[in-house]
Amino acid sequence: MTAQIIDGNALSKQLRTEVATRAQALKAKGITPGLAVVLVGDNQASQVYVRNKVKACEDAGLHSVLEKYEASMTEADLLARVEALNNDPSIHGILVQLPLPAHIDAQKVIEAISPAKDVDGFHIASAGALMTGMPGFWPCTPYGCMKMLESINYDLKGKHAVVIGRSNIVGKPMALMLLQKNATVTICHSGTKDLKAMTLQADVIVAAVGKRNVLTADMVKPGAVVLDVGMNRNDEGKLCGDVDFEGVKQVASHITPVPGGVGPMTITMLLVNTLEAAERASK
Ligand code: GUN
Repeated sequence: MTAQIIDGNALSKQLRTEVATRAQALKAKGITPGLAVVLVGDNQASQVYVRNKVKACEDAGLHSVLEKYEASMTEADLLARVEALNNDPSIHGILVQLPLPAHIDAQKVIEAISPAKDVDGFHIASAGALMTGMPGFWPCTPYGCMKMLESINYDLKGKHAVVIGRSNIVGKPMALMLLQKNATVTICHSGTKDLKAMTLQADVIVAAVGKRNVLTADMVKPGAVVLDVGMNRNDEGKLCGDVDFEGVKQVASHITPVPGGVGPMTITMLLVNTLEAAERASK
């Protein structure tokens, strides 16, 4: 079997067109959905990420502001900026790019963002809403993974999903979303004794560790669906995920590539959340 590729670029294009259409409808009511992206310091990867986020907003007809600050910015000044954005009616979503410089308490900054504008879904109020099934914002990467499963009409009810990785940004929210759709969920991590024994039982595997070749063909049940959240470089410096793509695609029924898989979906879901925030504010 050769797996069907779940194309994150194609799905993103479709979803971003829907966002643009809904944004137009809001604009007709005099509301332009607005995202504020705050970058502190000069982390190279972060510079690229925020540029891509701002460009994606512009392409979808959303208003966006990029605020860049020196790495020496104080925590108090950043908290004051967040508060000003909380009170700015032209801004519906606030994203403070992580990582922040070491002298700033990132969790404190995240908790300062109004939950109504927490389009990253990192606030504890958002995490609590996801856990209890209440309305709130879902973190963009696992939300994008759910959209990818939806795009292949995958019914999670009664399926065994194995999530590799337990971060607050991907692994844990991913597990809760899969659970909400009635999957039986196992979370594996660095302390898991026999990862292969777990993944071989899985109908769905989400790899979100940040390490190459965490998942190889011998660890995958034939016909399983494999979502690769990893973003790594191989020995030739080329972008690759956590999954041995060439090997696993011979065993899986569906697989996401890197690049062109989950990555573009993360930004797409940020646009969806920003639009949703603006729609909620307009009601
Ligand atoms: N740094 C890497 N990914 C992300 C993300 O999704 N949101 C924020 N705020 N920072 C990040």
